[in-house]
Amino acid sequence: MTTMAGSIDYGERIPNNVDLAHDRRLQRALESWQPKFLHWWQEMGPATPHRDVYLRTAVSVGRDGWAHFDHVVLPEYRWGIFLSEREPGRTVGFGAHQGEPVWEQVPGEYRSELRRLIVIQGDTEPASVEQQRHLGMTAPSLYDLRNLFQINVEEGRHLWAMVYLLHAYFGRDGRDEAEALLMRNSGSSDAPRILGAFNEPTPDWLAFYMFTYFTDRDGKFQLGTLKESAFDPLSRTCEFMLREEAHHMFVGTTGVDRVVERTAQLMREHDTDDIRAHGGIPLDIIQRYLNFHFSVSLDLFGGETSSNVAAYYTAGLKGRWQEPRRKDDHRLVDSLIAVDSVVDGRPSMVEVPALTGLNQDLRREYLRDCNSGLARWNRILEEAGVERRLSLPHQAFNRHVGAFAGIHATPAGEVVDDETWERRRDEWLPGRADLDFVASLMQPVHEPGRIAGWVAPPKVGINDQPFAYEYVRFA
Ligand SMILES: [Fe+2]
Ligand SMILES: [Fe+2]
Repeated sequence: MTTMAGSIDYGERIPNNVDLAHDRRLQRALESWQPKFLHWWQEMGPATPHRDVYLRTAVSVGRDGWAHFDHVVLPEYRWGIFLSEREPGRTVGFGAHQGEPVWEQVPGEYRSELRRLIVIQGDTEPASVEQQRHLGMTAPSLYDLRNLFQINVEEGRHLWAMVYLLHAYFGRDGRDEAEALLMRNSGSSDAPRILGAFNEPTPDWLAFYMFTYFTDRDGKFQLGTLKESAFDPLSRTCEFMLREEAHHMFVGTTGVDRVVERTAQLMREHDTDDIRAHGGIPLDIIQRYLNFHFSVSLDLFGGETSSNVAAYYTAGLKGRWQEPRRKDDHRLVDSLIAVDSVVDGRPSMVEVPALTGLNQDLRREYLRDCNSGLARWNRILEEAGVERRLSLPHQAFNRHVGAFAGIHATPAGEVVDDETWERRRDEWLPGRADLDFVASLMQPVHEPGRIAGWVAPPKVGINDQPFAYEYVRFA
């Protein structure tokens, strides 16, 4: 059975546009992984009872009309393997192999590095599903509940995407890694997920919006660097994943928008900053959540200098964000970059070779993107006539990875000693009281068209449906 170029045959057990039917060995390997994935989904996926959900399913990778929307009974969702179209004549865009044709197979000398990069990316995808497992129980509206499910099934599909690469290109050890991706679990004490932020709980919906804004956005930037890879199947896989990620970014951005909007409304209505008695989330608490999610997400970019990252770039495995738009030689052998550092006990910058400073380059791009969210939320406050503003904390604040891990700094960037940090921590990060208060607001709303009191309704529905549409149906 063949598929037409760019379209997907849903009659197959594993929908795909990689001609799986013509590779029996690979097909059998993936079909034996599939029940393990479904078992993981039952154990670790959304715990909310439901009958069906109005979901987007990828049906093509073409630019227009790639997705189909319909009510889907969840275990029957068709997770598939989709790579963007091959770009004829594509060449390596950077590093020592610049200008050479891209690779259709994994070069022996880069095998373990490429496998490692794919495993790290793959590990984050199921981790976020695990972190969000119980959130559906307290969704503020059917619209929000549907978006949670959508993100969860797509993170599941991203796991499929990485597992396909491991099975198709890395033989026995790739298959072992694919198994291990289902064995590690977010927050587990004996087999945790690889990266710290993916072991943090996502206890409530404010945390979910912040996570999809700040932590999913790290994913967007990592995928952007892998999209430049000389290993073409990885590049094409990540390009298609980025298309799906856009919706996850949207959920985070507009989710925080809607909390800020409701908070501003209640502040005006009751003429007070402390809107807790009126069922709203005070700006102070929003700021502390923001401080937390931003700082743990900065850690995901790794240390300021890294010889591994320099080697990945030189080898052509992982590029920079928007590599083709950079106006330099794309080799960086003689360039320098300023990176974060601690000088005389204070946050500062030092110049290092650009190749070893590539983590900082990516973090800087990320930071710029985060600033656009802050500008949006502050515009909402301004338009509502509220004077207070939200801000990103200093990059040295609450860091556990990189140059700033060894110091304590306030959100303003002032260095403080251990004792001050411990004493004032709850002014800057969500403490027990904040978490308990936000948890107290988390009551599920399941009637179409209704919404919880701490968040404003969205401006538009999904796929031109009204907000009051029955996005999720219950048995
Ligand atoms: Fe993802
Ligand atoms: Fe995502």
